[in-house]
This record gives sequence, C-alpha cells and structure tokens, in this order.
Amino acid sequence: MVRRAGAADLVPAGVRAILAHQSDEGAFVASPDFSQYGYCWLRDGSFTAYALDRAGEHDAAAKYHDWVESTLGSIAGMMDRAIESKRAEKDFDPRDLPPARFALDGSVVADDWPNFQIDGYGTWLWSLHEHLRLAETTLSSHMLDTVQRVARYLATFALEPCFDVWEMNGTDVHTSTLACVYGGLVAASSLLGDLELSARADDVADRVRISGQANGRFEKSDASHEVDASALWLSVPFEVVGSDDEAFQATVAAIEKDLVLDGGVRRFASDTYFGGGAWPVLTCSLGWYYARAGRRDDAMRCLQWTQSHVDANGCLAEQFGGELRDRSHYEQWVTTWGRPAADLLWSHAMHIVLSVELDGLTSPGVNRAVASAGDYALEHRQ
Ligand code: BGC
Repeated sequence: MVRRAGAADLVPAGVRAILAHQSDEGAFVASPDFSQYGYCWLRDGSFTAYALDRAGEHDAAAKYHDWVESTLGSIAGMMDRAIESKRAEKDFDPRDLPPARFALDGSVVADDWPNFQIDGYGTWLWSLHEHLRLAETTLSSHMLDTVQRVARYLATFALEPCFDVWEMNGTDVHTSTLACVYGGLVAASSLLGDLELSARADDVADRVRISGQANGRFEKSDASHEVDASALWLSVPFEVVGSDDEAFQATVAAIEKDLVLDGGVRRFASDTYFGGGAWPVLTCSLGWYYARAGRRDDAMRCLQWTQSHVDANGCLAEQFGGELRDRSHYEQWVTTWGRPAADLLWSHAMHIVLSVELDGLTSPGVNRAVASAGDYALEHRQ
C-alpha cells in the first residue's frame, strides 16, 4: 500500500526519492523510469546535490562531488586536449569535447547525444562551492586538480557556442549557459583564490548584459529573441544580475506572460518536446526567485502547483500538460522514446530547494524525517 504524502511530508519524501536513486558510486540517475535518462547529467546532478545540502544531507552531496571528481579525473586528457586545441586556435570536433552526461559508473557514453554543453561544468563548480559552505568544510586536496582543470576549461570555452541547457541549438551562445558558466567561474575563483577567473567571469557578465540590451530583456541566445525560463538563473542562483535589474524584471514579466501553463512554467514558447508542458524545475526556479525577492505569496503558488503534481507514489515528473497543449508533438515523442519521465530527480531537487527556501526548514528536522532512505525504495517495490 502506498500512502499519499501530505504537503509537510513532501520534502522528506523527495529527499528519500533522491537518496534511493543515488548509485553506490555517488551518481544521480536523471530519471529511474524514462528510456533516455538512465545517466547522470552534471547539470541535473549538481542541482540535486545542492538540494541535498539545503536539506542537511551533506554526506550524500559529498559522495556526488567525489563521483564527479573521479569521473572528470578519468577524462583529464580529453579536457586538456580540448583546452589546448582551443587556445592554439586549432579546429576541434565538438564530439571530442567533454560530455554533458555520464554512465552511472562514471564512464563516457559513446553515442551521438548532443554532448557539448558547458553549463553543467559551471553548475558543478557552483554546487561544490555551495556544498563546502553549507557543510562548513573546506576543499580537500584530492579535488584541487579537477577543480583547476574544470575552471580552465570553462575560462577557455566560456563564450563559445554550444548546446544549451535543453540540449539544443549547438551553434548559438545561450544566455542561461552563460549564467551557469559565470556561477562556476566565480565559485572557482573563490575556491582557488584566482583573480583571473573572476576577471573571466566579468567577461561573461558583460556578454550577458549585451543580451539584456536587446528588447530590454534577456534573450534566449544570440540567435533567438524568445524568452527562456532558464534565464531565471541569471539572478537566482548564479547572481549575474540583481533581482531588481531592469532587464531581468522585464524577463520575469515575459516569462509570466508567455510561459505559464496552468500555473506551471514552460521552457520557451516554441517548445514541442512531449508537447512542451510546464516543468517543476522551472516553476520552482520562478518560486525561488520570488522567495528571494520577498514575493512570498507568488512563491507559495509555485510551490503549491508543484506539490499538487506529486503523484500517489511520490513521483514528480519532468513536465505536465504537454499532451493537452500539443497532442501531436506529444504523441510523436511517445512514439520515438516512450512515455516521458514520470519521476525526475531534478524535479524533486528544485521542489526541495523552494520548500526549504520558503519554510526555512531546519536541517535536523528534515534529517529526522528522512532517517531511512530505504523506506522509499521499499514503498516503490510494493
Ligand atoms: C533536458 C535537460 C536535462 C535532461 C536530463 C533533457 O530533456 O532538456 O536539461 O538535463 O533532460 O534530465
């Protein structure tokens, strides 16, 4: 029998869901049920580790960071070659560049996924920095080499076109990718005491501001005037701009106007992936911004929307409403890849972040409630 969790149980249940799907090595599978998501993305995983830190689960977050360190350690040669080619202005094949996602054992997956996405490397450095701050610990020496290498990689490729956070449009420079890169460079500069990295972060911020000048709001990329909800990360969490920045305010207004579907937030207006539904990750990102901006009621609405979509098994899907919004694209994707992710770790993660942000849940309270990650796995087997 599965008992439906009440709102107060949803954070500990989300933490249990994440912990139950952390591999022995420390990786987080993107989704345990969707055909294409049996891997660990640096993007999803690093936000997920951050959520665990916000919930007081520092050991599990540390395990993830160790996994990233050893995973990236094993592609050190690939990263060094990429940096060297770019600095020598040699041609490089994006397929030879460090990947966005890995198998759970840390190996590189040899397939034709659009892998050249630098945002995850920035998000990882940011998440690691946040981990050290929240767990009140310092960078251990075995991490140093990898942190330096990732920082060099980001500094080198910071302004290069690459696939975006939605794994699309590999020939463009994307605003939210720049936000993640900025966050990573600032984090690395602080971890390594390296002022050149912070100067490079300033270059990235300057590039973001150029995007903010067109139409008075931040555009999706240098090739698209659309608004993309991932631009929310420019303010929270990566702090490229303040939440009161005029262009950012106009971006939020455009997201509210163009991207809200039934109370949740879509990625961008022309999105057709599984019908282009509303994503908990983005609805909670908007809520996170509202919470930081003191708009508590608006943030609560985002939280309630998200919580109303947790199913009876405690699962939180990737997106909602696409099948009604655009039936034919929804069906097309189902035919290609099967049903969309019914449980997505990153969705749980952002729900936790928003909940903790809003309720000021203390770590000990959350920890008591999640005493056994095994409970969740057991419930799922019944
Ligand atoms: C999303 C990515 C995400 C991946 C795994 C893709 O559909 O666009 O942002 O990292 O799924 O969850």
